[in-house]
Amino acid sequence: MSVEGLLREHGQPEREVYFDHENSGWVPPEVVEAMLPYFNRKGFGHPSITNKPGWEAYEAVWRVKEHLVKELNAGGPQNLVFTHSGTEANNLAVLGSAIASGRKGGKVIVSSVEHLSVIFPAEFAAKLLGMKVIKVPVDEEGFVDPEVLSAYMDKDTVLVSVQAVNHEIGTIQRVKELVKVVKENNPEALFHTDACDAFGRIKLDVKELGVDLLTLSSHKILGPKGVGVLYVKEGVKLEPVIRGQLSTQTLWPGVENVPAIVGFGKAMELAFKDFSNQVRRVKSLRDKLLNGLLNEVPETLLNGPKGDLRAPDNVNISFLYVEGEAVTVELSLKGIYASSGSACTSRILEPSHVLLAIGRKHEEAHGSILFKITRYHTDGDIDYALQVVPEAIKRLRSISSLKPSHPKQ
Ligand SMILES: Cc1ncc(COP(=O)(O)O)c(C=O)c1O
Repeated sequence: MSVEGLLREHGQPEREVYFDHENSGWVPPEVVEAMLPYFNRKGFGHPSITNKPGWEAYEAVWRVKEHLVKELNAGGPQNLVFTHSGTEANNLAVLGSAIASGRKGGKVIVSSVEHLSVIFPAEFAAKLLGMKVIKVPVDEEGFVDPEVLSAYMDKDTVLVSVQAVNHEIGTIQRVKELVKVVKENNPEALFHTDACDAFGRIKLDVKELGVDLLTLSSHKILGPKGVGVLYVKEGVKLEPVIRGQLSTQTLWPGVENVPAIVGFGKAMELAFKDFSNQVRRVKSLRDKLLNGLLNEVPETLLNGPKGDLRAPDNVNISFLYVEGEAVTVELSLKGIYASSGSACTSRILEPSHVLLAIGRKHEEAHGSILFKITRYHTDGDIDYALQVVPEAIKRLRSISSLKPSHPKQ
């Protein structure tokens, strides 16, 4: 049935609250406004071409890079590469460094909770170059233990990739400590961090962290989809993994998505305006939702850590004895839009590898629902979610075959 058909049948919900910012989000009007001129009024040229619209495009891209340099303490715009997604930036980091190492039979180490856009290229590097991929286990809250990582390090290690914040369970990794351990064991090994879910939530300083490579994605900060960034520390060698015409960006040839890059720049400006207050507010809404759901709904499990090392925007709860997909549909009918398990796998009904890695059973992983809070959410939105979600779970449990002695609530 179409969405319109469903709504006709069930009626318009009294309120709509979008919580699926893990996968994609709406774009604030100021961001759209900033992008519009670059489609047909100025800067619609190719940034590598020396005509006026091309220069304007080049300058617009450069300005966003300069802004990013400040936010990341990235040294200079020459250390930043725009790609067309976070996925592409991760592929460039992992494959590009594995190939550039010139090694056959080296080792790539990733955490077992990385985004698939890190894990898959690592596996591809293994196939292509005869490398070994190690997936480092994490503890029950998703943390990589520096001592465990250290035990896997050796002189063959070409690259270590551990994300700054987990996209599903919100674990804020202790990246600085992990970098230290890696470099102590092998100063030649590169350290990449996928910071797609960290940017705009925690402060990131590439020098302070000591990373060689760092990935960002525009839509993770309410920018438009279709822009990724890779920070490449000066002196780090990468092999381009896609080939094309010579352009201003040798590591990622192909024309830059200029309007989207401009939109990303605006989204960044908004994300860092009054940063500490925004983060504090988002955190308090997160806690209200998280504690409210854990208190209101029996037989739930919080996925990921509590406290300061949980991302300010992340609420991930396993509701036992229900299927996550059924929950997302039920919630949609009431205007609450969330996702189940891992975004990237929810349509193929595979349990999230992240939840399995922290020790969740298949059925616990299948019942997980992910909510992401932004600065645009209000107390009223959270109140509405706290009214709708417990009712939805109760109804689904009452018809669920997953638990024999149901319902308890
Ligand atoms: C942690 C993380 N890395 C990488 C990506 C991929 O980014 P993109 O959607 O821009 O390809 C995502 C997207 O959800 C993500 O959550």
